[in-house]
Amino acid sequence: MEVVIVPDAAAGGELIAEALATLVRRKPEALLGVATGSTPLPVYEALAAKVRAGEVDASRARICQLDEYVGLPAGHPESYRSVVLREVVEPLGLDESAFMGPDGTAEDVQAACEAYDRALREAGGVDLQLLGIGTDGHIGFNEPCSSLASRTRIKTLTQQTREDNARFFDSLDEVPHHVITQGIGTILEARHLVLLATGEGKADAVAQAVEGPVAALVPASALQLHPHATVVVDEAAAGKLKLAEYFRATYAAKPEWQGL
Ligand code: GLP
Repeated sequence: MEVVIVPDAAAGGELIAEALATLVRRKPEALLGVATGSTPLPVYEALAAKVRAGEVDASRARICQLDEYVGLPAGHPESYRSVVLREVVEPLGLDESAFMGPDGTAEDVQAACEAYDRALREAGGVDLQLLGIGTDGHIGFNEPCSSLASRTRIKTLTQQTREDNARFFDSLDEVPHHVITQGIGTILEARHLVLLATGEGKADAVAQAVEGPVAALVPASALQLHPHATVVVDEAAAGKLKLAEYFRATYAAKPEWQGL
């Protein structure tokens, strides 16, 4: 696992946007896995700016979703489908046909989960999966004690995650209890995992994920099992890393040609 400590969220966004742009230049039809929440927004803004400036042609890129609420009506502004279309697909100038995600409105949720895992495989697999991290260490919506081998499936949110996400809704009561998420085993199949964490509120979760044991209790610690995982953190989110100086020195000495 590589840990990159950046000065702030904007620098993290720029770094990851450049990694995405490099990938798309090499593989124009790359399948980019995106995350929701506030953290990745600087990545999407920086990537869209590169597209507008003609630094990268993303017109053949494909976008896939990590997770989804169950039961929000189609078109609900806070369904993750709506969020990804609004924050990623449209700003990149892509058509909705370039987007794939699990169906949170399906009557048969289990069948929708299996169909999504199948669709990801048939699409050739995810080239780069961007991840955020929950304050409890979750990735996607894999809450603590999710199986490290899990596939896309339905999960029940913890009260903490519902409270964290209530800011996107009019009240806590409106936050769904159930979600569909790519499983940890599904996420680990992406060719490159990039987790971005910013702010002091993520410092404990980051330290446990990066320097703690691999444990289902901290789902993000599963990144330790991946051969190409990059964790990008700002100074505040890096605040509890014991090896911070080592991570800084390693990145400072990294040959530029390696990229992320
Ligand atoms: C939600 C999403 C996660 C995201 C997390 C953190 O739970 N399902 O993918 O990483 O929120 O969000 P934020 O970046 O807003 O802190």
